[in-house]
Amino acid sequence: MRFYLGLATTFHDPALALVGPDGSLLFAEAAERFLQYKRAPNCEPDAPARMASVLRDYVPRGSEIVVASTWGPQFTDFLRGQAGAGTFDLMALAAHGTALNRSFVPEQAERVFIADLHAAQERAGHGTLLALNHEARSTGAAPRATIAGQRRYPHHLCHAAYGLWGSPFEEGTALVVDGMGETGAAAIYRLQDGRITELRRHRGRGSLGFLYGLITDLAGFDQVKGEEWKIMGLAPYGHPDPDLAALLARLCTVEAGRLHFAEAETIQAVAAEIRTRRPADAQENGWADLARCGQDFFCTLMDVLLAEAAALSPSANLVLCGGCGLNSSYNGRALGRSGFARLHVPSAPADDGNAVGAAWLAYAEDNPGWAGPPAETRPLTPYLGSRVSTAPMERLAEQEPRAKRLGHEAATRAAARILAEGGLVGWVQGRAEFGPRALGNRSILADPRPAGAKDALNAKVKYREGFRPFAPSILAEAGPDWFEDYADSPYMERTLVWREAVRDRVPAVVHQDGTGRLQSVTPERNPAYAALIGAFAEITGVPILLNTSFNVMGKPILHGAEDAILMFYTTGLDALVVEDWLVVK
Ligand SMILES: [Fe+2]
Repeated sequence: MRFYLGLATTFHDPALALVGPDGSLLFAEAAERFLQYKRAPNCEPDAPARMASVLRDYVPRGSEIVVASTWGPQFTDFLRGQAGAGTFDLMALAAHGTALNRSFVPEQAERVFIADLHAAQERAGHGTLLALNHEARSTGAAPRATIAGQRRYPHHLCHAAYGLWGSPFEEGTALVVDGMGETGAAAIYRLQDGRITELRRHRGRGSLGFLYGLITDLAGFDQVKGEEWKIMGLAPYGHPDPDLAALLARLCTVEAGRLHFAEAETIQAVAAEIRTRRPADAQENGWADLARCGQDFFCTLMDVLLAEAAALSPSANLVLCGGCGLNSSYNGRALGRSGFARLHVPSAPADDGNAVGAAWLAYAEDNPGWAGPPAETRPLTPYLGSRVSTAPMERLAEQEPRAKRLGHEAATRAAARILAEGGLVGWVQGRAEFGPRALGNRSILADPRPAGAKDALNAKVKYREGFRPFAPSILAEAGPDWFEDYADSPYMERTLVWREAVRDRVPAVVHQDGTGRLQSVTPERNPAYAALIGAFAEITGVPILLNTSFNVMGKPILHGAEDAILMFYTTGLDALVVEDWLVVK
């Protein structure tokens, strides 16, 4: 039997995915979860200790494994080109002061970036090999599996393969926009008859992803830590500023429907000019007006790329992927533009998702005519990660009489009651979400009705900036009653506008501009979570919960029940549910 191990091998957000002999996706998880190290910079995607259990769980003895990784054969040309190019434009600029996993000299930004990328690519598959060798040595048995080959696939093609083959569409257009691929930072693909064709690849070092990163840094945050989210959260508090907008417009102009990014000198001059205008408290609180102008500018430029995609590949179906696919504010307004009527943004549109794309591309290469995973498995479930064990709850119950195994129904009813009374509940079920958002399996939940719920949550558990909104999970059937122009949002991938009349009912999840980054929940997608929201609705009449990821600031989403128990006792959580176990304070 032949398995396909996909590895996301950018130096940030490494991840692994395992595709089975029939092309189905068996497992996908970012390295940060297992390591409990946010974004896992410069870590291998297939840490030997992690791989040992993945192999044990999914790969029968005597199998073969094809290792497929991101960054294609052109990667070497890319490195050579960059090494002689002198600057890496936006990256060199934006990475001032800090960097992934090391103290940093700005002048060395480009070299460090390339070295990290190179090292990450070189490491692909080593963890798996170590795990296999170790198992063979320690058991004395024949190796569980042999490595049947190592392949590399182009970076943007990996994004597109994961986005298109994981979508519900039989045909469609994918727009990939990110920090950088082998030759540029955007590409357009078409899915037709199960096959994916590249229609356009942008070339050059200009990058919408890095431009957004630069804005993130200038507004007082840190793109290297992945703080682009904060721009989206802060933007609604800012006001349009014509001077700032004019400065930003010099970074990238639009001519004849094409983006033209400025040269390094212009970028440096604009950045310096913007810095002189920065308010004194920007570092502490963020600079809202720049966030607003930056987000608006980003949307304008994305519209240009979207129009290009529509012209090259007219379709009703659009897939957005690459890191810029995480811009839920833009995603919420993308539809209806350029003729696209349906939008799919995968649960992990950034580089972690490339693990799935690479594994599927390898599978497709060995199985000509394969047209993606079976229709009934699409759109892809986000619940692809590790399963939670309840053993730590059993051990806890030996010492803590308030830890009880109630069964799913009673635990759900109890949790709904605690939530309706204003309690904060940690909620851990089944398999972990693949991608940055907690979608009801590794979540902290709260009642969205009290106006003070957001502040209480920040004070007791999350410790994050007050301007960042909390997201709602809503029963899909109720969606149109609560949102204008409601559209299904299974992965919390888009931001929609709350109906005016309901905003007072759920103030804790209504953002400054009247929007919410919603998750549409159905019993088919997540029975346990749908049952909980249903039980809460029975008590309160509101089919909505405030849902935030189960972590504390600066840490990734938790991995095991031990992490959940630790957080339960060290934060202001009122109750913890792990599968059908409940513990209350
Ligand atoms: Fe990417």
